[in-house]
Amino acid sequence: MTILVTGSAGFIGANFVLDWLANHEEAVISLDKLTYAGNLENLKGLDGDSRHTFVKGDIGDSELLTELLETYQPRAVVNFAAESHVDRSIHGPEDFIQTNIVGAFRMLEAARAYHARLSAQAAAAFRFLHVSTDEVYGSLSPTEPAFTEQHQYEPNSPYSASKAASDHLVRAYHHTYGLPVLTTNCSNNYGPYHFPEKLIPLVIHNALAGKPLPIYGDGQQVRDWLYVKDHCSAIRRVLEDGIVGETYNIGGWNEKANIDVVHTLCDILDHEQPRVDGLSYRQQITFGKDRPGHDRRYAIDATKLERELGWKPAETFESGIRKTVRWYLDNQGWVNNITSGAYRDWVSRQYQ
Ligand code: NAD
Ligand code: TYD
Repeated sequence: MTILVTGSAGFIGANFVLDWLANHEEAVISLDKLTYAGNLENLKGLDGDSRHTFVKGDIGDSELLTELLETYQPRAVVNFAAESHVDRSIHGPEDFIQTNIVGAFRMLEAARAYHARLSAQAAAAFRFLHVSTDEVYGSLSPTEPAFTEQHQYEPNSPYSASKAASDHLVRAYHHTYGLPVLTTNCSNNYGPYHFPEKLIPLVIHNALAGKPLPIYGDGQQVRDWLYVKDHCSAIRRVLEDGIVGETYNIGGWNEKANIDVVHTLCDILDHEQPRVDGLSYRQQITFGKDRPGHDRRYAIDATKLERELGWKPAETFESGIRKTVRWYLDNQGWVNNITSGAYRDWVSRQYQ
């Protein structure tokens, strides 16, 4: 038995493949285009593991998809591949449309053709699991209840709009063609291998490098944080027993204002690796221009996943964030390999 995982060299995809092979004997075919966000170093732990096959390629390449499906006959596809950074989608939405919408469409088409050729037994067991985000639901006021699966889609950024489009296509392929799909909508993740353009790894990196810790606007925007390994365990659970055609919200019940997250990171670093001058890393916090169309609050109601599939996160924010800071302190080489070249150009454009 085999599964095909796309976007496997990125943050969540890599964590998923590593955790999958730590928990199963079942082989994984990894497909990743290796964009700026894809990093084979994330999968280094699997070197020499015969259960893992990496293929460099684009989810928009129909021929390649057909070949991979026919050759490896996976019993499931898990689609992580995407452009994932909101700020980049504001500067240049084109890649988001190509990968997140057209790429997802090509994957659905290839999966539909493959599914149609499977034996009745294999077709009944096949699953196409699409990994999506809570950002498709739009923004909440401070007092509104958290997003349930019934919340209407109101995406506000080119990133979230492109993910919403792909979610709709996935739904349509189930209703129209009977493709056995599952969709998960997860809140903000954090943990090992998180690319340092996103808030938590950026703040850890900048703090240690003596650089400003940039807060957009007033820093009171709220995100609902989930440790990445909890996201991976939820996806495994949905893949195992999720009901075909259903969507499942995944979240950590950890709503935090951005400024509080940054304060927490500074306090942990003050303890783990104090500044040489003895002052707090909080000194480096700088408030700047807000993100255009910045969603004020996301919050996920993950009751359905707990009630129907018995999933709960293993980490609290307090335990997960400590593990994360420790991982970055222990893996400075990984960060240094990224924070060069093209990444530096992005930082100077975004934070000039
Ligand atoms: P990431 O940007 O770290 O990784 C994306 C990966 O996809 C990279 O390895 C990249 O090389 C690859 N990729 C991009 N375009 C591709 C293409 N055309 N063909 C093949 N591979 C391609 O993203 P992430 O944070 O790991 O997110 C993974 C998925 O989870 C995305 O679909 C994202 O929308 C979703 N998600 C992310 C979060 C979060 O907090 N990061 C939360 C909920 C959902
Ligand atoms: P981010 O990690 O980019 O995730 P998302 O936009 O998908 O939620 O940002 C998390 C929050 O942190 C978001 O409200 C924007 C904010 N933010 C900053 O204040 N400063 C920064 O430098 C970055 C990258 C994000």
